[in-house]
Amino acid sequence: MSYFMDGAVNTIHLKERRNTFSKEKVRMLSIILPTYNEAQNIKKTISSLVNVLDEAKVPFEILVADDNSPDGTKNIVEKLSAKDKRIRLLVRYADKGLSKAIVDGFEHAKGNFFLVMDADGQHDETIIPRMFAEKEMYDIVVGSRYVKGGGFGSAPLYRLFVSRIASYLAFPLLGRKKIQDPMSGFFMVKKSLYEKVKKKINASGYKILLELLFAADDKVRIKEVPFHFKKREQGESKLGTKVILEYLLVLFKQGIKQHSTLLKFLFVGALGTIVNLGLMFFFVETQHFSYLLSSVLAVEVSILHNFFWNNHWTFAQRRTGKTLFVRLLRFNGVSLCSLLVNVGVFFLFLKLGTWYLLAQFFGIILAFFVNYVVNNYWVFKNE
Ligand code: GDD
Ligand code: MN
Repeated sequence: MSYFMDGAVNTIHLKERRNTFSKEKVRMLSIILPTYNEAQNIKKTISSLVNVLDEAKVPFEILVADDNSPDGTKNIVEKLSAKDKRIRLLVRYADKGLSKAIVDGFEHAKGNFFLVMDADGQHDETIIPRMFAEKEMYDIVVGSRYVKGGGFGSAPLYRLFVSRIASYLAFPLLGRKKIQDPMSGFFMVKKSLYEKVKKKINASGYKILLELLFAADDKVRIKEVPFHFKKREQGESKLGTKVILEYLLVLFKQGIKQHSTLLKFLFVGALGTIVNLGLMFFFVETQHFSYLLSSVLAVEVSILHNFFWNNHWTFAQRRTGKTLFVRLLRFNGVSLCSLLVNVGVFFLFLKLGTWYLLAQFFGIILAFFVNYVVNNYWVFKNE
C-alpha cells in the first residue's frame, strides 16, 4: 500500500490516481526523487531544484518516492508539499528498493518527460535545464561523469573505481548503444519510451537506467550532458555488497537473454555427448559390436537426438520455410562436416607438436562453433 499527498489535504490511493493521470497530456518535466533516510538533505535538494527550474522557466513537478523512511523524510516533504502544489509525495510501504521506487514514481508522474535524480545533493541540479533542452532530439539524456567536462569531483576515489569496473562489465551487453556512463543515477527519459519498454523491466537493484538501456532497441537516441559528481553531504550511501550482487545478477540475466540460443545449443550438444557415450558403452558391452560400428552408430543416433532438441527447443521460434526432412538432412550433413573439422584441427595441432588432448580440445571448440554458426545462419535460418 502506498498513498499520495498532494498538498497536505488529499490522500489518494494508487489505483484511482493512475487512471486520472493517463488522460492528461502535459508538456512537463516530472522529477523523481527516490528517498530513503534523506531527512537531512531533502529540503535543500528540493529548494535548489525549485530555484533552478523556476529561473529557467521549465514547467515541472517534483515527485518524492519515499520508502517510508524511519527518519521521517516524508514529514518534511509533506510540509513542503503543502506550500507548493508542484511538490508531491508518494509513500511506499511494500516492495521497497531504489529502482522499484523510481518505477512507481514514473507510474504516477503527470509529465511526459521523467528525470531521475538522487536526493542527497550528489547530482548537480544546474544542468537540468540543459538536459531538458535536448528533449526533442533524444530519448534518453544522461547526466554523465565520463564525458568531456564531467568528472568525479570530490566523491571518494574508490567509488570511481567501482563505477568504472561496473561500466566496463556492462559495455559488451550494450552493443551498439553508445554511452560512457551507464551507471549514472541522474537521467531523463521520455515517457513514451518508458511506456514502450516497461514490460521488460524488472526494477531489481539500483541500475534502472541500465535496465532501460537494455530494454530499448538499438535505435534509441542517447545524449550525455557532463556534470561533476559531488560528495554526499549528510547521511550515508546505501550502496553495499547487496547492491553489487544484485547488479551482477542483472548483467548475468541479460547475458543469458542475449545468448540464449547459443547456450541452448551448447546444452543440447553436452546432452548429446552423454547420449553418445552411453550408446557406445551399450553397443560394445551388451551387443559386442566392433568399436568402429559402435562409434558410427553412437554418432548417428546422437546427431538425431541433437536434431530433435535443436528443432523443438533451441530454434523452435524460427520459421525456416523448409520441411522437417530437409532440415534433418542438412543438420545431419552439418554435424558430419563439423566432425571432419574436429578431426582436421586435431591432426593440424598434432603436427604442430601440441599435446594430443589439447589438440582434440581445440578441435572440439572449433567444430562446435562451425556447427553452431552454420545451423544458425543456414539450417534454421529465419525466412
Ligand atoms: N525509495 C528509495 N528506496 N530510495 C532509495 C533506496 C530505497 O531502497 N535506496 C537509496 N535510495 C535513494 C537515496 O535516498 C538517494 O536519494 C538515492 O536513492 C541514491 O542513493 P545513495 O545510497 O546515495 O546511492 P549512491 O550515491 O551510493 O549511488 C548513486 O550514484 C551511483 C553512481 O555512482 C546512485 O545514483 C546510483 O544509482 C548511481 O549508480
Ligand atoms: Mn548518493
